[in-house]
Formats: sequence, C-alpha cells, structure tokens
Amino acid sequence: MRTPILAGNWKMNKTVAEAEALVRAMIDPLVAIEGVDKVFCPPFMAIPAVARLVEGTPIGVGAQDMYWEESGAYTGEISPLMVAEFCRYVIIGHSERREHFGETDETVNNKIRAALQHGLVPIVCVGETLEQRDAGITDAWVSGQVEAALRGIPAEQVAGIIMAYEPIWAIGTGRAATAADAEHICGNVVRATITRLFGQTTADAVRIQYGGSVNSANAAELLAQPNVDGGLVGGASLKAEDFVAVVRAAVPA
Ligand code: PGA
Repeated sequence: MRTPILAGNWKMNKTVAEAEALVRAMIDPLVAIEGVDKVFCPPFMAIPAVARLVEGTPIGVGAQDMYWEESGAYTGEISPLMVAEFCRYVIIGHSERREHFGETDETVNNKIRAALQHGLVPIVCVGETLEQRDAGITDAWVSGQVEAALRGIPAEQVAGIIMAYEPIWAIGTGRAATAADAEHICGNVVRATITRLFGQTTADAVRIQYGGSVNSANAAELLAQPNVDGGLVGGASLKAEDFVAVVRAAVPA
C-alpha cells in the first residue's frame, strides 16, 4: 500500500508574511488528517519561515526547483545543500520551468541525481501539451520523459522518487484530466515505463501524483484511482480551506 502524498505547489505566490498566515491557517486541520503525507512547496524566500512553523509536525517542506552543483559561481541559483537545510522534497522539471526557463530532459536528470545524492526526495514532473494530446502521442511522449528523467539512476533510488503526471493543458486551466485519463497515464504509462526499466518491485513502490486543476470538487475521484497516489496542487493550495479539503479527499476509504 502506498501512502497518498499531497503537495501544494505555491509557484511564485506569497510573501513571507502571507506564507506564514497561510501555514498557520492550515497546520491544525492538516495535522488532524491521518494516512496522507502533506507537503508545502513555497517560494525559496519563504521556505525558512515555513519550515520553522511546521517543525515537529508531520508536514513536509519542498522547494520548487534547485540547481545541481553544490556551490560556486552560479549567480541566482540555489544549491541542493541549501535546499536540504530546510526541505525534504524538491519539485524537479515542472512544465513551467521546461517552458519558460530552458529546463531539458538532461537538466532534469542532473537535478534528480543531485537531489538523491543530498537525501532529498524529488517530485519529478512529466506531461504532454494539448498539441501532443491531439496528435495522439501522449503515451509515447510521457513514457519518453520518464525514461529520460530516470536515466542511469539505480532502481533502489528510483523506488523513493515521486512522479507527478501533469498534463500541461490541465495546469491552471480549470480543466482537469478525467479520472480515467489520469489513471491510464499514471498506471499504463508512468508506472508501466518504470516497470519496464527498473522492475515491478521498484515500480510498485513509486508514488505517482496527478496534477493539473485539482480542486476540492474533483480530488476524491482522481485520488481514488489505484495508480494515482496523490496530487500536485497549484491554485487550490493557495487557500487554506481548499487545500485542506483536497487533502481530506485523499484519505483512503
Ligand atoms: P494547478 O497547478 O493546480 O493550478 O493547475 C498544478 C501545478 O502546476 O503543479
């Protein structure tokens, strides 16, 4: 049995003061929900403050990205050592980073390796565009992204990685994938690819999130799918009552 994991990807939202207020409003109701792992992924500037507030609770903290080198002349970047001071998780390869910031399969692979080396749990994002979906190449595309992301990583490390299937057309659009489509890609594509490359035992251990317009109305059906082991939640993670409702919907029946 895989424990569901819900992560709030706050993207470029919330000042430190706003982040603290949001966390304070969510801590008690989230801690009361058992059987689900919860993670906040604030912007870098707010990470130390959020980490301080959730210290001693089972709520995890994650970064939204990081560089792969430990230190040096990389102006503007944040290293895995710096992330690991405060975080257990790090989102890698979000489609917004691939689209706007030149992230490639190769940089994604470098970052996953660096995260694992520093004891961080990577949340690795994959997903197709609307054009790819309309062209009927979603399965092949997503499978290729999974293979490229995990290239050269030992199976025992792959087992601890979290994958996030996020169809790009569903992100921030209010148009989530159907539960059947999410289940198909998470199970028949992402998990099947990991099975082919790393074996059944590893694939069975990997948790696969769905992301893209998850909200309190659609979360229960999406998260009830056997191969959907949680969610990566953007917009609905910015309001306390919405995120708490989404996490509540993940409690195994
Ligand atoms: P959304 O974003 O929930 O606002 O669609 C999800 C994500 O990009 O991780």
